[in-house]
Amino acid sequence: MIKVGILTSGGDCQALNPAIYSVCRALFNSGREVKIFGFLDGYRGLMYNRYINITEETLDGLMFEGGTVLGTSRTPFKQLDRPDENGTQKVGAMKETYEKLKLDCLVILGGNGTSKTAERLSREGLNVVAMPKTIDNDVWGTDVSFGFWSAVDAAQEAVMRIRTTAKSHGRVFFVEIMGHKVGWLALYAGMAAGADAILIPEIPYDIKKIADSIKNKKYAVIAVAEGALSKEEAALDKKERKAYLKSAPSSAVRAAAKLKELTDKETYATVLGHTQRGGAPCAYDRVLTSRLGAAAAELVLNKDYGNMVIYKNTEITKLALCEVAGKLKTVEEESSIIAEAKSLGICFGN
Ligand code: F6P
Repeated sequence: MIKVGILTSGGDCQALNPAIYSVCRALFNSGREVKIFGFLDGYRGLMYNRYINITEETLDGLMFEGGTVLGTSRTPFKQLDRPDENGTQKVGAMKETYEKLKLDCLVILGGNGTSKTAERLSREGLNVVAMPKTIDNDVWGTDVSFGFWSAVDAAQEAVMRIRTTAKSHGRVFFVEIMGHKVGWLALYAGMAAGADAILIPEIPYDIKKIADSIKNKKYAVIAVAEGALSKEEAALDKKERKAYLKSAPSSAVRAAAKLKELTDKETYATVLGHTQRGGAPCAYDRVLTSRLGAAAAELVLNKDYGNMVIYKNTEITKLALCEVAGKLKTVEEESSIIAEAKSLGICFGN
């Protein structure tokens, strides 16, 4: 009998359920006797020994449902060695549950913060297999994370909707798109929706360049990553910037205000927020999670622990967790996709 624990941690996305479905389906199909413990609400379930038994029935329909049937939560890596409100040592408690249930392995689904904790647990002696989830697409080592394309679909559709009303009224819209510290989601959603400009954290923008690029346009739609910064904002020192962003947290609102100072165009800001993470997984994500899930199950069955399954150059492979944890995959200013977007006339404000 193989005993496997599985958990979903960090911000949710549309493709967590299909990922749970796929890895569990492949384990049940392996011909081995498998018991799967689904820990509730991320690492908290592992800490406090709260779980459900995942059976064939649990999996029914999961491939097509957004969210996560296990629930999720954030367990900040920085606070991992700080006891919880009841004085419980988090890592110690997780190890205790793992040992108490006599688990052979933990399958951990999450993004950057999650993989840092997964790597820590692996160093603490737990057998871990990880799968890359995030709408931000910033997990190191994998070309794409599951959740990303479903969020691109949602965000680009919203930008398209904004476009028709922007056109009717001759307005300029700054549409704020999630992505944390990176610009992948804004870049892809912006390109898909034919945005006039795309502002991303990796390329601090000059608002004058944006104003110039749209001055002869009757209307414009600008995709703004939530982490995008103007050149002046990027030049602030870390402490100053933190205080400034606390008082003006929306990148789209800030950019719209700056543009208003330079033009008499009617300018709006729209923040898409969690609409980008909700709803059903797209077809691409269902295929990606099927492939990653099958590969993760294989690692479990082969006792090939301490790895994340990744998608690289159209193939599914693995990367050691110590190679993944703590690194961020950002958009490179010199990459071909930026050059391609520029050749279509998309302005990045640089
Ligand atoms: O990491 C995914 C993400 O949606 C980011 O794009 C965003 O900055 C953050 O999570 C929002 O987190 P929360 O849902 O906890 O507010």
